[in-house]
Amino acid sequence: MSAAPVGVIRGDKDGVLQAPQQTPQDPRLLGRDVRRIAFSETELRARVAELGADITAAYPEGDLLVLGLLKGSFVFLADLVREIRLPLHVDFLVASSYGESTVSSGDVKLVYDPETVLEGKHILLVEDIVDSGKTLHKLMHLLSGRAPRSIEICALLHKRIAKELAHPVRFVGFDAPNEFLVGYGLDHAENFRHLPYVASLR
Ligand code: IMP
Ligand code: MG
Repeated sequence: MSAAPVGVIRGDKDGVLQAPQQTPQDPRLLGRDVRRIAFSETELRARVAELGADITAAYPEGDLLVLGLLKGSFVFLADLVREIRLPLHVDFLVASSYGESTVSSGDVKLVYDPETVLEGKHILLVEDIVDSGKTLHKLMHLLSGRAPRSIEICALLHKRIAKELAHPVRFVGFDAPNEFLVGYGLDHAENFRHLPYVASLR
């Protein structure tokens, strides 16, 4: 009985209530209860296309270096770059902060540093979610020191609670609820990254 689907009512853009979305009986969930689906596959696809168009318009000269923060950004980044109609390069950074906890430790370590030269490049740092902002704050500090031509952040989700982020996030997919979210790249203890939707765990 504990695995019974839980309906949530969501408003559409006109504020009209739609039919409740059911959380699926999804074999990928390892039997964990999902509180609700925060962002469906359809919503993600539509918003990522809009972000791609915004980014395309923002860099008329092209020549962009899209720097994905692993592992969380890998699904989002893969979809996003295919919506950007510009010449670009892709590279990755690996930072670790959470371990197996659901609370940010603020202890951000760079585990993999891109070999690409950052100097003189238009860098777009792609992150899955901004929570406390500590990870991005530290990374922006580090990357700014390498003399890029410009550096902006694109985050799929933003919890809007970050106090430490000096640099604003230029491209935001969605404002996120202050819940622990998984899916579309986001994990809990390395699970659930492959969910095609974003859900909050109970
Ligand atoms: P921050 O440093 O607190 O902003 O945390 C940023 C990083 O923590 C993100 O890149 C995620 O990997 C992880 N994170 C933050 N919130 C969540 C969440 O709700 N679910 C999964 N990972 C999260
Ligand atoms: Mg993570």
